[in-house]
Amino acid sequence: MDPEVAANRVAWETASQKHVNEYDEHLAEAARLESLRPWELELLGPSLAEAPMVVHLQSGHGLDDVDLLAKGARTVVGVDYSSTAAAAAQWRARDLKVGVHYVVAEVPTVPLRDECADLVYTGKGALIWMRDIQAWAAEVGRLLKPAGRLYVYEAHPAVPLWSWDTDKPRIRDDRSYFAKSHINDSFPANGAQEWQWSLGDIVTACIRAGLEIEALEEYAEPFWRPGDGHRAAAWEGRLPNSFSLLARKR
Ligand SMILES: C[S@@+](CC[C@H](N)C(=O)[O-])C[C@H]1O[C@@H](n2cnc3c(N)ncnc32)[C@H](O)[C@@H]1O
Repeated sequence: MDPEVAANRVAWETASQKHVNEYDEHLAEAARLESLRPWELELLGPSLAEAPMVVHLQSGHGLDDVDLLAKGARTVVGVDYSSTAAAAAQWRARDLKVGVHYVVAEVPTVPLRDECADLVYTGKGALIWMRDIQAWAAEVGRLLKPAGRLYVYEAHPAVPLWSWDTDKPRIRDDRSYFAKSHINDSFPANGAQEWQWSLGDIVTACIRAGLEIEALEEYAEPFWRPGDGHRAAAWEGRLPNSFSLLARKR
């Protein structure tokens, strides 16, 4: 494994201990079936109506997997390189008696067969951990059946620029939209190296991997807010904080 990816994996094993410590809260949250946001459900609607076999890349705490099943998925396989995250998600699936299965593996070298998925679902802090966005898109293309769909709901690539000031939004002096990477200085995985992919990088990688873009939406709402209630002015409606991408394999 690439040394920077290996260091990030260690950081994620530590950060994922949170899923174990907060197991009961996550169990209750998963059972509420409110994990998928309305705009996700809107774009996922046509796929979920066809009872898809879903592969969730970088599945993390796995709350979305329980909701994907409840909203129509036939099967969900989560893939994450943190054995701590995958084990906590697997216990939860067992406790809730839902058939989600977790594989501990690195993305983009996923040990699942070609064309096993009707839908590849990912995001909420996933793409910044990909060292090579073209290799990621090619892996998505390999996993998808013909006419299968990729859905990504992710932090907007401009987010690393926004300060967390509460009075007004500011652009951080130490960040650039066009930088290749930066060091994470907030929870989780503090100190880990994040790679930056612009919207152009992501869309172009998908097109080169044989995917046809069906929708690209940008939202003011971040996909995540800190649990301490902090409200940055950059999250209050004027700036892009998340996006959805829906693409179909040709
Ligand atoms: C911010 S979390 C988001 C995950 C998930 N979408 C969620 O909401 O919980 C990022 C996840 O990606 C995983 N991850 C990061 N890089 C990875 C890689 N190269 N291969 C597999 N998993 C990876 C981490 O272990 C972590 O669980």
